[in-house]
Amino acid sequence: MPPVFGRPIVTQKQVEVRIKEIGRQITTDYAERDLLMVGILKGACIFYADLVRAVRLPIAVDFLTVSSYGSNAKSSQKVTLLTDLTEDIAGRDVILVEDIVDSGLTIKHLQEIFSARNPKSLAVCALLNKAERRIVEVSIDYVGFDIPNKFVVGYGLDYQQRYRNLPYLAVLEEAGDVDQDLHAR
Ligand code: IMP
Ligand code: MG
Repeated sequence: MPPVFGRPIVTQKQVEVRIKEIGRQITTDYAERDLLMVGILKGACIFYADLVRAVRLPIAVDFLTVSSYGSNAKSSQKVTLLTDLTEDIAGRDVILVEDIVDSGLTIKHLQEIFSARNPKSLAVCALLNKAERRIVEVSIDYVGFDIPNKFVVGYGLDYQQRYRNLPYLAVLEEAGDVDQDLHAR
């Protein structure tokens, strides 16, 4: 039976309101600074597009793509860059924009890679935080919503590359054998 998604766990309206709040916060925090907002593809694409338009500063934009580490996430597993930034981040204020922080491996690894390039600052903004699933410690500067340990789709998040265009966040149901790590970013 194919997985189905049920009612929203975060509605379109809730996302809209929260993104405006985060946008205002970033606008305040980064006033007069040289802000580069980095979208982590593919998952952050929808959130990113809405968030950058809620920031009232002349920011620069850039993107990167990370590989999936496949099933059975372990802290030893490597997350690799499939496509890198085009901007030089040395001396600049950078915010990494992610769809969801789950095990924490992706963000932790990206923080390591980009800290080595000497940005002035490096922050993380995630639409969703699934803290229960964390296997490595990471600090997130801006969080949209804390969610329980459920597999969610929509608003950029996929299940086997589908459902990213769902305009709200829903839990996949009746997908008994969904492996939480079996998704490509
Ligand atoms: P982490 O490295 O385990 O923190 O995983 C981060 C990535 O896993 C995110 O960028 C998502 O692409 C993906 N991911 C984690 N949880 C979910 C989920 O519930 N639905 C869809 N994708 C997810
Ligand atoms: Mg994904």
